[in-house]
Amino acid sequence: MTISTGTIESIIRQAGELAMQHYHNVANLEITKKSARDLVTEADVAVEALLKEKLTQEYPQFGFWGEETGQTDNQDSRWIVDPIDGTHSFSKGQYFWSISVALEIDGQLEFGAVFAPALDDYYCAEKGKGAFKNGTAIHVSKEDDLGSSMIATGFACLRSYLEDNNLERFARIAQLTTGQRRFGSAAMDLCLVADGQVDAFWEQELNLYDVAAGALMVQEAGGTMTNFKGEQGIFPKQVFATNGLLLPQLLPLM
Ligand code: IPD
Ligand code: CA
Ligand code: CA
Repeated sequence: MTISTGTIESIIRQAGELAMQHYHNVANLEITKKSARDLVTEADVAVEALLKEKLTQEYPQFGFWGEETGQTDNQDSRWIVDPIDGTHSFSKGQYFWSISVALEIDGQLEFGAVFAPALDDYYCAEKGKGAFKNGTAIHVSKEDDLGSSMIATGFACLRSYLEDNNLERFARIAQLTTGQRRFGSAAMDLCLVADGQVDAFWEQELNLYDVAAGALMVQEAGGTMTNFKGEQGIFPKQVFATNGLLLPQLLPLM
């Protein structure tokens, strides 16, 4: 594959520096609403502009799809980018937000990186070559008992005013587990599954740019990516990631 993971990391870290400049000045952050419950800030726009400029300059053969600027013409092979995943958290000065960059070539996810600048954690994976956090190989957890597990979820569905708003599913599963978390960055949620910090994660109504990089991380770390019916693959509207061991216990509850 014709990419340099070092060059890509350098570009993403430059984007992280730009994000942190805004992060240290959130009191003056320009925030607008894309919809009633969906924010975008000047940081999202600036970070995406930097990533789009530098990635397409370095790799003109690939198109670009960013959450804030949409898709360029060439979508056969493309960068899939969420410049700030967890914008609401970012706007509050919280730590848990990330920059998500994936590369899809001829419909196959080949590379993914999720960078959490406020935590200085850089997750990356290349297809078939494993998943890494700050250069160290990571693997999903070995937790095989639902009653002892920690699960994470999100509520994008509430923003979409869906009838299935995940609240009953969350209540059903939460009562059967030891730990429950809602971190606020789906890209990071998936990295935590890959890193064994969380045993499973699910969320509805996401977009491919929220999950592409994190999903490759889970797969390369030995986890499962399915929909709520257990069909293997990446389904942004029904993201379900597990360490594999808990899939049979969780599937009937989804
Ligand atoms: C959001 C985060 C959050 C998820 C939302 C997403 P954004 O991304 O991933 O965890 O629950 O549904 O929209 O909007 O901050 O890029
Ligand atoms: Ca997002
Ligand atoms: Ca975003």
